[in-house]
Amino acid sequence: MSTVFLNGEYMPKAEATISPDDRGFLLGDGLYEVTPFYEGVPFGLEGHAQRLMRGLCWLRIDFDTSGLEAMHRELIARNGLESAERSMVYMQITRGAAPRTHYFPEGQVTPTVYAYTKEWSRPSDDAWNRGFTARTVPDRRWSRVDIKTVCLLPNALAFQAAKDAGADDAILVRDGVAIEGAHQNFWGVFGSTVVTHPTTGHILPGITRAIVLEEARAAGMTVEERPIQIEELALADELFFTGTTGEVRPIREVDGRVVGEGCAGEITRQLSDLFLARVEQAKAAVRMGAS
Ligand SMILES: Cc1ncc(COP(=O)(O)O)c(C=O)c1O
Repeated sequence: MSTVFLNGEYMPKAEATISPDDRGFLLGDGLYEVTPFYEGVPFGLEGHAQRLMRGLCWLRIDFDTSGLEAMHRELIARNGLESAERSMVYMQITRGAAPRTHYFPEGQVTPTVYAYTKEWSRPSDDAWNRGFTARTVPDRRWSRVDIKTVCLLPNALAFQAAKDAGADDAILVRDGVAIEGAHQNFWGVFGSTVVTHPTTGHILPGITRAIVLEEARAAGMTVEERPIQIEELALADELFFTGTTGEVRPIREVDGRVVGEGCAGEITRQLSDLFLARVEQAKAAVRMGAS
């Protein structure tokens, strides 16, 4: 039985109960974050915390985030995941429970904070090298998806449409632009230029995306943050996704059409290696600090 965190307490998951008046349940009035841990070491924690604080500010949810890092570590420890190769903490903060109104509750309402942890794994090397398939699906989300709200219905429907079509993932298309995946950022490689959508209200500013951008630039690659038109997908030498539990994930086929060589491309591979090396650095820095 896993131990979860709810409103300041650790408890068996079966004992965690949330009010039916919770505005997260009734209105999707809340945010979430997923922070990865590698052998118990949090990765990109600062980026995740900053994105959360920005979201809280935008939603005008008054919440002190100072204890969250300790809570994440405690949850990993209580679930015995300190040596798990890959694990993550899912955390959700809603405005709290109050009689249902579309406007904010008038009195003081305490936000609901829920978190759980679980292991996840990277695909086998064979599967990764083969690459994954994607299907283009209309992007029906609102225009502030840069805020990581729990309102994921359009993402879920898009992902399901891709699955129904036999693909591994979705690429969301808005106004002729391949924006991002249903739960990952999207990238193209054209010649030796690496391209990804700029950070606007139409993409989630992924923490993995930011790290991969830094690594690409540090390696001297040419990087462009610009929209990728759907017509360009047929011209791309490589396509890939990035995300917390996807890391760097090659795409071999879109809508049944082969991408590049039809397997993980060279630049995708390099960026994946750089990303994984960055994870190793983070682990080593913690070990050095501890010794
Ligand atoms: C729509 C969307 N884009 C991109 C990402 C990737 O963000 P990150 O790298 O911070 O996991 C996510 C992650 O949940 C997402 O839901």
